[in-house]
Amino acid sequence: MKKTIDRELENKINKLKKERQAVILAHNYQLPEVQDIADYRGDSLELSRIAAKTAAKIVVFCGVHFMAETASILCPDKMIIVPDIHAGCPMANMITASDVKKLKEKHPDALVVSYVNTSAEVKAESDICCTSTNAVKVVNFLKDKYKEIIFIPDKYLADFVAKKTGKKLIFWNSYCPTHIKITAKDIINKKMFHPEAKVIVHPECLPDVVALADEVLSTGMMCKYVKEVKAKEFIIGTEVGLIYRLKKDNPGKEFYPASEAAVCPNMKRINLEKVLWSLEELKEEVRVPAQIREKAIRPIEEMLKIL
Ligand code: 13P
Ligand code: SF4
Repeated sequence: MKKTIDRELENKINKLKKERQAVILAHNYQLPEVQDIADYRGDSLELSRIAAKTAAKIVVFCGVHFMAETASILCPDKMIIVPDIHAGCPMANMITASDVKKLKEKHPDALVVSYVNTSAEVKAESDICCTSTNAVKVVNFLKDKYKEIIFIPDKYLADFVAKKTGKKLIFWNSYCPTHIKITAKDIINKKMFHPEAKVIVHPECLPDVVALADEVLSTGMMCKYVKEVKAKEFIIGTEVGLIYRLKKDNPGKEFYPASEAAVCPNMKRINLEKVLWSLEELKEEVRVPAQIREKAIRPIEEMLKIL
């Protein structure tokens, strides 16, 4: 049963959303009440595409900062607002544009593939972007055309992609502090209790966790996969917020988090009060400056071309 206070907040949000001609997007790791109020839920790629296509003038982006920036890069004519400006991605913050410039000086012939979990400034220094949904596809497409490929910033995603594509990649030393909390021991223990369960993990997980998985998927692909397969039980190796969506969308199936410790504190900063506040005040706006946007849109468009 929903609390009356949540119902009141939901009613206010829905009313204001209509008046403002706004759309609410929520990443799959958001709190249940935020997922419920959203018009669309999805992974980073899905949400960027929705932001680009929507007719709404205002996009309330419930996710982390780089996701809102990506939306701003793709749709500069829309107002992108985030309910909490401090919701950042620590992995994205582990590399700067100046780091990328230095890498390029060191490897002048290399192509720079950057994961979408990067700042607009880092994207502006990159040749092509990728997400966890299409990283393997992007590198497979490019691997014979370029002798050297720099893959930034996630060293574990880079490791997964290198193994999948057979291409040696130049790594950067970043990682997701949430996904590395999931250990191989967690998977083995959960599997002991649920021997029939399929193990699905995010490619940001540690390599020994990835090695134990039946499938390695982005959050959007996980949602699709569990719907399509016959299996009834799943061990989920990603941020725990996804479990809410999986359970809601698949009432006949069981989902077990690989580790309850896999919580992204930044994704949990947003709540209904903040969503209402952002619609009332039209804050905080995320707008990528034109000179950065002009450069940062190119790698995103390059990625969208080969999908
Ligand atoms: P997805 O694109 O798979 O949703 O991943 C985003 C993210 O931040 C994973 O930690
Ligand atoms: Fe960044 Fe990891 Fe949080 Fe995803 S889960 S937003 S990669 S810190």
